Amino acid sequence: MSEVINKVALIGAGSMAEYHVKGYRQAEAEVVALVDKNPAVGRAFATRFGLRGGCYGTLGEMLEAHPEVQAVSVITPNKFHLPLVTEALSRGLHVFCEKPPALNAAETREMAAVAAKNQRVLMFDLNNRARLDAQYVKRQIREGAVGRINSAQAVWQRRTGIPGFGGWFTTKALAGGGPLIDLLHMIDLALWFMDYPEPEFVLAQTFEDFIHDPDFRGVWANTKGDANGTTDIEAACHGFVRFKTGQVLYLHNSWAELVKKEDTYVALQATGTGVFIRSVNESNTCELYSQEHGVSRDQCLRFRNDLDMGRTRAPANFIDTLNGKAEPLTSVDEAIRLMELIDTVYLSAEKSRPVHIVDHSYIVC
Ligand SMILES: NC(=O)c1ccc[n+]([C@@H]2O[C@H](COP(=O)([O-])OP(=O)(O)OC[C@H]3O[C@@H](n4cnc5c(N)ncnc54)[C@H](O)[C@@H]3O)[C@@H](O)[C@H]2O)c1
Repeated sequence: MSEVINKVALIGAGSMAEYHVKGYRQAEAEVVALVDKNPAVGRAFATRFGLRGGCYGTLGEMLEAHPEVQAVSVITPNKFHLPLVTEALSRGLHVFCEKPPALNAAETREMAAVAAKNQRVLMFDLNNRARLDAQYVKRQIREGAVGRINSAQAVWQRRTGIPGFGGWFTTKALAGGGPLIDLLHMIDLALWFMDYPEPEFVLAQTFEDFIHDPDFRGVWANTKGDANGTTDIEAACHGFVRFKTGQVLYLHNSWAELVKKEDTYVALQATGTGVFIRSVNESNTCELYSQEHGVSRDQCLRFRNDLDMGRTRAPANFIDTLNGKAEPLTSVDEAIRLMELIDTVYLSAEKSRPVHIVDHSYIVC
């Protein structure tokens, strides 16, 4: 791509927007303006971050005033990802969309088709891939040090961590689901480490215990809730996936569960080196396990200056990718596969049956 991409705008001025501003500035792009349907929130954000273009109510209005904008971030509640991403792509913009890509795989495929038709770049904010420890592990895998990954555990568990209790996060029609779809990062990391193998069977169960109990509210998005609002999603999800390669994955996501405390990790059992990476208390740890000459060798690496789970580096990577300076951290195909897996996990839980996947179609066994 020969044109330099350095003029961007944001759609959605909520809790994630400041990471996008920081990331774009890190990549030397200007955040020109903002779109938010709530003018008070949008104006306050534009002022706080010194956006010269200010805030607009729609993408069309913003582009009329600022035709120089070449790319946008979509940072709204999940339900609005599809209409906003497709509108932006159709208007000729490159798009960086927050996770989850959409409410489901069908919507993600629709976005992919619009991106291809308009020949625009579409990337998703699977920011944990940008963490220093995750990058280190991926490098070790690429260089062959890890060997064949047989099995993985992907866990993001919380004890009292329901975000925005009664708000959009806990409303299925707006969010697509609960912790499974919201905290999909560790599942994505495990799949990324395993080179996104094709799933064969999924067996999963969701649980609703504690989801209506305000004592299980979390700090994230806490001010956006409504004590009398909707909570029609799961509180926890446990699942098991067998891939066509023979590899397996155990996944565990929860917002409200009687566990000791919040924990976020991926563990890999492999033929060369075992891996355990955890992000907790603003410090990432990576442990590597091997057997050498009859000796058990454990290495513990600490990545201390990595405080935001890659949330700044991911939008910077989007700009660097557009300008040919970096490889993309995410691909549309992987986003589709991720959402297919999540759809399948929900289907297995809903039907209380294993689900067999054949040619991207789901068959309840
Ligand atoms: N990558 C991460 O670590 C991470 C963390 C939290 C949230 N997220 C994702 O970021 C997205 C936004 O989450 P948030 O916590 O910032 O939400 P939020 O509720 O804090 O903010 C959303 C903003 O979008 C605006 N908005 C809603 N609909 C709109 C529309 N149609 N057009 C324009 N503006 C609109 C709202 O007025 C609000 O200001 C979600 O998809 C969420 O899953 C990602």
